Amino acid sequence: MQTIFMTGGAGFIGSHVAERLLARGDRVVVYDNFTTGTAANIPAGAEAIEGDIRDKANVQQAVAETKPDGVIHLAAQSKVGPSLEQPDMDLEINILGTVHLLEAAKANDVPRFISASSAAVYGHAGQLPIDETSATEPLSPYGTSKLAAEQYIQSYARLYPIRTAALRFANVYGPRQTVETEAGVITIFCEALLAGKQPLIQGDGEQTRDFVYVEDVAEAVITAFDHETVSGVYNVSSETQTSINELLKELSHAANREFNPQYGAPRTGDIRHSYLSSVKLRQTAGWKPKVALAEGLQRTMDYYKA
Ligand SMILES: NC(=O)c1ccc[n+]([C@@H]2O[C@H](COP(=O)([O-])OP(=O)(O)OC[C@H]3O[C@@H](n4cnc5c(N)ncnc54)[C@H](O)[C@@H]3O)[C@@H](O)[C@H]2O)c1
Repeated sequence: MQTIFMTGGAGFIGSHVAERLLARGDRVVVYDNFTTGTAANIPAGAEAIEGDIRDKANVQQAVAETKPDGVIHLAAQSKVGPSLEQPDMDLEINILGTVHLLEAAKANDVPRFISASSAAVYGHAGQLPIDETSATEPLSPYGTSKLAAEQYIQSYARLYPIRTAALRFANVYGPRQTVETEAGVITIFCEALLAGKQPLIQGDGEQTRDFVYVEDVAEAVITAFDHETVSGVYNVSSETQTSINELLKELSHAANREFNPQYGAPRTGDIRHSYLSSVKLRQTAGWKPKVALAEGLQRTMDYYKA
């Protein structure tokens, strides 16, 4: 049994990671301020500490008392919109909060630190698929804060005896996602379809994204935590390019509704096409996505129906 100090464990992705760790017998201590996450998301058997990662003293104390074998850091301000409106708030949570955790890990001799990053660090893709050597030119303060946090994480690995990895998630979807998270479009579509409304697509719907199922992402986080060879930055993706039109067609099918969307103005600054290679994590640790889009969307729709 290992003890894991997990930030953001009351959130969408964190709750799935916590479930898997508990199922294999680990002790999970969730540290979360319940802004977008909820206590109901924390699986039975996990311990919870209510706290903010911006509060350095509180983070130090919580890590010292937990004495973890590793940190999984998923708490974040995880949306582009708020980062444009309040870049200082985004910076404090995503960069300063990460530094507080790294300092607490260092002070308590924690040997492992796995953190969530994002495909938002890349910005407009030159060549597809995007791999970890592609240029990082974020288009938002959110992408910039995630990139800066990655740099801190990697510098701690160079300076101190701590293995660190930052996982650049593509668009994650699945049960318990809220519209508050980075790829909330699927939640918005599910809720609209189940309410008998036709979803609004921003733009012509031919823009593409890489939608990866949350259970695959949870497994990637745990794989990175377990494998001593995983260190640095890694994409976590489905390696599949799906247009918003295709996505909505699949969801309409899963909901037994007609595909008849409304189209609106495109979002300013929206990336046209995006999909990521996760060959590096596959070659380093054997992780690969298992849940196909149709299956994942059906499970997600069933969750919202229930
Ligand atoms: N959902 C996606 O598609 C996606 C894509 C790329 C990267 N990510 C990253 O994955 C991680 C998890 O995202 P998610 O989708 O589960 O989002 P989420 O909002 O569901 O989870 C974030 C959790 O962090 C907590 N939190 C936020 N600010 C905090 C603070 N200051 N102190 C303590 N806790 C705080 C929230 O209450 C929530 O429980 C984030 O780092 C996010 O940037 C998510």
